[in-house]
Amino acid sequence: MAILKIARMGHPVLAGIAAPVADPTDPELKRLVADMIETMKDSDGAGLAAPQVHVPLRVVVFQVPGEPIDETLSAVERFDHTAPLTVLINPVIQVMEEVLEGGWEGCLSVPGLRGWVERPRHIRYTGFDIAGNRVSRTARGFHARVVQHECDHLDGMLYPLRMQDLSKLLFESEVHHWLEQQETQNQAVK
Ligand code: NI
Repeated sequence: MAILKIARMGHPVLAGIAAPVADPTDPELKRLVADMIETMKDSDGAGLAAPQVHVPLRVVVFQVPGEPIDETLSAVERFDHTAPLTVLINPVIQVMEEVLEGGWEGCLSVPGLRGWVERPRHIRYTGFDIAGNRVSRTARGFHARVVQHECDHLDGMLYPLRMQDLSKLLFESEVHHWLEQQETQNQAVK
């Protein structure tokens, strides 16, 4: 296994449309996926797409350990908020609800920055795992966000291109200012 070099915004591999994988069980793909998982973990990312490691194929890996449990959610909804370490080949996303939700995103290909991105909050995704089995799951919250962000990489889309308001593109080290401001506003409302 190896830690792979990550392409950064501006590299053409991040702007192209990645090709579908012909055979999800190809042994060479297994090696790529193992290296992608190692690279993702090494850089502390929630997900990684193959074009980010200079391989223009429709493969993503991600892991969403879970958010604090919200007691108002049903068991099914809670389940939708987490994902084990997942390899998704030739993914397809279906929006389940048109309702958008905003959240801060970062990207290993856009190091040091964070941006506020609105995305559908409830999706279904399908694809194949590395054994060639079909994967089909529903996702909400950060889980839905991570999957959409990673799959966007397969179509040459980086999160700043999804942003409605570029004043919310910040250096990671400055996000606390924005959060503090929010806090003050919330207290004022109370
Ligand atoms: Ni990314």
